[in-house]
Amino acid sequence: MEEIIPGSIIVTGASGSMGKAAVKALALKGRSVTMACRNFQKGEAARQEILAQAPGAAIGLLPLDLGSLRSVRAFAAAVKGSAPAGLLNNAGTMPARFSLTEDGLEQTVGVNYVGPYLLTRLLLDEFAPDAHIVNVISLTAKYAKIDEGFLHKGPEDFHQLRTYATSKLALMLFSIELAKRTSLHVNMSDPGIVASDMIDLGRWFDPLADIFFKPFCKRPEQGAAPALAALETNTTARLFKRNKCLNLQECFLNNPLAGLLWQQTARLTGLSDF
Ligand SMILES: NC(=O)c1ccc[n+]([C@@H]2O[C@H](COP(=O)([O-])OP(=O)(O)OC[C@H]3O[C@@H](n4cnc5c(N)ncnc54)[C@H](OP(=O)(O)O)[C@@H]3O)[C@@H](O)[C@H]2O)c1
Repeated sequence: MEEIIPGSIIVTGASGSMGKAAVKALALKGRSVTMACRNFQKGEAARQEILAQAPGAAIGLLPLDLGSLRSVRAFAAAVKGSAPAGLLNNAGTMPARFSLTEDGLEQTVGVNYVGPYLLTRLLLDEFAPDAHIVNVISLTAKYAKIDEGFLHKGPEDFHQLRTYATSKLALMLFSIELAKRTSLHVNMSDPGIVASDMIDLGRWFDPLADIFFKPFCKRPEQGAAPALAALETNTTARLFKRNKCLNLQECFLNNPLAGLLWQQTARLTGLSDF
């Protein structure tokens, strides 16, 4: 059943590895949560699994496809008036091949950056005072390069890891820009390398990685821990990684492209510059 819990923390990708771990940890702490899931049935199964371990927890569930700006707008409309206490932008994707969202964006860019940008901005007037926004980035963002044409790259520019890293860098720059423009707590979390579906690259060596690589990766609970800390902090524009709260490097904090990217994405999604 679709349900939004007033005053809850919204968790996107809540039926995935780290999303589910985060919802469970929040529920066990007595926080109310609204799970935002692309696959509603999978979301409901995850909700029941968590409720079995945290009986009586207040856990709502709403559909959200971040690859569809229409779906993002419908989600934001459903949440209206519920004063969310926070938003954990956890959902993410790293497809092996180039494909477009229904809005004509490259899938990785649409799901990892444009969808969360629109969702967060649409919720800005809805959040409870003192709300926390946490964007899940990746260590790959540190090595990414972004340029003015980032939002409209074609198949010739697509590279699974590079495109993913750039989408996470864009999410980082958005977080920093948002922290400068609002009084909310806007922070980032880097989970490290976590044994989840995400690190299946869709290649012939995936079964080997399952045996020789995944056992040495972090568990989803460990990967979700920095995000959970970031949901309780008084800081803003910081990076939560392992058990640390880090200041960002100057090249991220004052990236000359951050403002332009904000404006371009606002135009693309039909929002004001703000
Ligand atoms: N695993 C790592 O090593 C690692 C490292 C750094 C950062 N991260 C980041 O951590 C976050 C969580 O990833 P994970 O490792 O837990 O991977 P995961 O298990 O694959 O979870 C990803 C979640 O995102 C959801 N999602 C994908 N496309 C979506 C869309 N179009 N709309 C809405 N939801 C969508 C998935 O939905 P379904 O449940 O329907 O598939 C799933 O719930 C991601 O942002 C990822 O980039 C992961």
